Amino acid sequence: MVQATYYFPPRFLWGAATSAHQVEGNNTNNNWWAWEQQAGRIIHGHQSGLACDWWNGRWREDFDRAVESGQNAHRLSVEWSRIQPAPDRWDEDALDRYREMVRGLQERGIIPMVTLHHFTDPLWVTEMGGWENEAIIGLFEDYVNKVVEALREYVTLWITINEPNIVAFFGFSLGLFPPGKKSIRAAGRVMINMVQAHSAAYRAIHALQPAAQVGVAHHYHHTRPGKAWFPLDRWAAGIQGRAFNDAFPRALADGVLRLPFTRRRFPAARGTQDFLGVNYYMSDYVAFSLFSPKQLFTRRYFAPGADLSDTGWIANEPQGMFEALKWGRQFKLPMIVTENGVEDADDHLRPRYLLQHLHQVWRAVNFNWPVKGYFHWSLVDNFEWERGWTQRFGLWELDVDTQIRRKRPSVDLYTEICRENSISSEMVSRYAPEVFDKLFPT
Ligand code: FCB
Repeated sequence: MVQATYYFPPRFLWGAATSAHQVEGNNTNNNWWAWEQQAGRIIHGHQSGLACDWWNGRWREDFDRAVESGQNAHRLSVEWSRIQPAPDRWDEDALDRYREMVRGLQERGIIPMVTLHHFTDPLWVTEMGGWENEAIIGLFEDYVNKVVEALREYVTLWITINEPNIVAFFGFSLGLFPPGKKSIRAAGRVMINMVQAHSAAYRAIHALQPAAQVGVAHHYHHTRPGKAWFPLDRWAAGIQGRAFNDAFPRALADGVLRLPFTRRRFPAARGTQDFLGVNYYMSDYVAFSLFSPKQLFTRRYFAPGADLSDTGWIANEPQGMFEALKWGRQFKLPMIVTENGVEDADDHLRPRYLLQHLHQVWRAVNFNWPVKGYFHWSLVDNFEWERGWTQRFGLWELDVDTQIRRKRPSVDLYTEICRENSISSEMVSRYAPEVFDKLFPT
């Protein structure tokens, strides 16, 4: 049997990612909380409720878990609606609490990466029209200034916006996220405002903290044409790739936002990323479909026989991780995998998903591509947006009623990976022998 070890570079960041609304609990003053109160919005009427109870202090025990499992970095987000509960009010206690959290990470030897916007908006922002109203650009900049001033002592790694493409398409075109709009034009307006908000935030952060490293967490969805020989499927895959994957990060590279029906110049946005954050979960096929104009006339499906997650939401397609990083190289920036993971309550799939995806990250690293870290989604099961509590992404399992955490077998695997800074044939034979030949072919 082959015996080998795939090493990662020194100082590689190994962590998990979380977001405020999904873990804090009782975030009552934002658009997602309001959305959760409306019938039919969240599967089975689930609500975020107490979530993982971080706001009452359970972040401490979860950060202890992170450090005990060998992690050296953690990606978390701060909640705008707590920090600025009303247009004319800043909550210094909330900022103190976040300061305590990031200091808590530092004290544990964990490098914090802070996301400034992860899907949620304060209700007062929503009432003004949210991301469709260009006033949000200046408001977001004010909020970012406030947060960076408060946390800069402990934080140099910043994500301005998590998955702008998902916010725009899920919220404004597919109607799955608040405000539930179904208009491609509205999604375009959101992208336009997000490019400008990001670029204003980038400059504000650097003005306050010249050593800051600032990026966006891009959701990269790997798409291939359903029938490679069929021109309409190729067109469909191309338009999906350009609108969904390329548009936002390219605008931050060259200052031009290219959307399907419009092209806008934002010279100030040029060169406003210090690293490229990549969220990668899955790949699929795209076919042309006259019946889905809201999805740019495309229909997506997984490969027949794909290795699917519990609710069928994710297909284990590790090659797509390599493709994501290959795609990311065009930006000529350091890259960080800011999210990757799988919903899997009984942990039958996670060990192989994790190993196979990290194998692809290692392949990229082995080509000397500048990949600097990996953040697993997620540390503990948390509230999965419109999919409520039906999806379990945690390394640790959460009993939502008792708040008791239980370690899944993947924790031991991830601990070995983080501590050894490598994946080895020996780990694979113990945790996912079924994919041994894929990772270590003879
Ligand atoms: C990403 C989100 C994250 C989580 C994972 C499963 O799109 O950024 O909050 O919901 O999906």
